[in-house]
Amino acid sequence: MRFAPPTGGIGALLTSPRELAAWLADGRFAMIADLLPDPLLVVDGQGILRFMNSAAEALHEVHRRAHLGRPFGELVEESPLLGEAALEALRRGSRLQRVDRTVDGREVLTLMRPVRDADGDLVLFVVVQRDLEAIRRTAAGASSLDEARGTDGECLHRMVAGSHNRRILEMGLRALRLGSRVLLTGESGVGKTLIARCLHERSAGRRAPFVHVNCASIPESLFESEMFGYERGAFTGALQRGKRGLIEAADGGTLFLDEVGEIPLACQAKLLRFLEDRTVTRLGATGMRRVRVQLVAATNRDLGAMVERGRFRRDLFYRLSTISLRIPPLRACREMIPELVDLFVREAGIRRGQPFRLSDACLRRLLEYRFPGNIRELQNIVEHLAVMCDDVAEPWHLPEMLTEGDRVAEEETAPIAPPEADGQASDGDAGSPGLREQVRRFERSLIADAIRRYGSKRKAAAVLGVDVATIVRKSRG
Ligand SMILES: Nc1ncnc2c1ncn2[C@@H]1O[C@H](COP(=O)(O)OP(=O)(O)OP(=O)(O)O)[C@@H](O)[C@H]1O
Ligand SMILES: [Mg+2]
Repeated sequence: MRFAPPTGGIGALLTSPRELAAWLADGRFAMIADLLPDPLLVVDGQGILRFMNSAAEALHEVHRRAHLGRPFGELVEESPLLGEAALEALRRGSRLQRVDRTVDGREVLTLMRPVRDADGDLVLFVVVQRDLEAIRRTAAGASSLDEARGTDGECLHRMVAGSHNRRILEMGLRALRLGSRVLLTGESGVGKTLIARCLHERSAGRRAPFVHVNCASIPESLFESEMFGYERGAFTGALQRGKRGLIEAADGGTLFLDEVGEIPLACQAKLLRFLEDRTVTRLGATGMRRVRVQLVAATNRDLGAMVERGRFRRDLFYRLSTISLRIPPLRACREMIPELVDLFVREAGIRRGQPFRLSDACLRRLLEYRFPGNIRELQNIVEHLAVMCDDVAEPWHLPEMLTEGDRVAEEETAPIAPPEADGQASDGDAGSPGLREQVRRFERSLIADAIRRYGSKRKAAAVLGVDVATIVRKSRG
């Protein structure tokens, strides 16, 4: 990789830290830098991190708001993908080119270049990194099935992982690696489909096929031919050369049965047969084919209740739900809201060609809202703001239902607890802390999260709409 000569050029233009800051604060620069697939960081002559694009946030798994304006050394300390050598290069004002490996085998190439002004004084450092594994995957996978299906393969990078999601991903991965099937449950819009994709990326790999079957959209009469395929001439209207079914298409990868509660009863027996012996027989064929797929299913229905009412086969229910993971509604993990807002604002800003941000009051209103439609609703609200506002979204730009005060009632503010497998929910357990204590814990974790995210108690206080003294008092507990 070649860099422009380190003197003259921008070094001559950016003669003071203030000029550099103004230049980097220009939203247009950030917008372009966020389109780069490679991580980019800018550190000023005093060693303060001044810029970080979204690829760098994803690589280091940090939030830029927590690091911009802070010493670069803090990021080096926090991230395994920036070694001590980076700090040394900064101290000496020298170039750096090295590969760092993490314990889990990721390899990242780091290039650092000092930029000096006409007098030879250090003005800034440009740090470019390249995730070598991602480059290899892109090069090898350009014509993979995944690409052909339009999967962007970036779910893991894009996903905002709150503590619940992280735990769900961990448990799901462990289950899939042991050959178990995973059932994801939860209200509409909580991220079941996204989590299924992430599980696939982590377990089967982006190059393996991910076949997303929306069970609600396959008519009963076509279920068998769509899922199992058919031989030529199996029925009138069949393709001349026959067709492989969706299960076969997922061979070597993941079969994702979305809205699995909608499979007609008559078709459930056929699916069960496949789950029992892992073979498919195309319609009109005599031989069976063995397929190797990992299975993830999702539903927003209460399958247990459907079983009781005779609407879903009990044996199929047990086969599908070896491991059942419940994704909580957004109102039960509201600490994710600021980060989700950041992501959606960035994406909407790029789409509309002009960045924007939310005022503190607007963000506060979102933090108080119930989100019956969960993360999808939040995404739609940000889209709405992108249309309604210019540079800054204010509360009055919000859709009406939010301004009418549909807020989270106190009794609904669940404490932030680790996720639990279905059937083990501890709602209303005897011996659980009282409401006051739960609210206190919830407040404390919201405050701790805001301090971590915004970098100081003062900023956290501004975002949460209270004064610093309140933050100090409540975080003490
Ligand atoms: N953790 C997350 N980080 C970023 N975006 C998310 C996250 N979870 C969900 N989303 C986004 O929210 C939207 C809804 O998510 P998704 O479709 O996965 O929900 P779902 O639970 O499958 O909903 P449904 O039951 O209606 O199918 C999607 O656009 C998805 O990309
Ligand atoms: Mg879905």
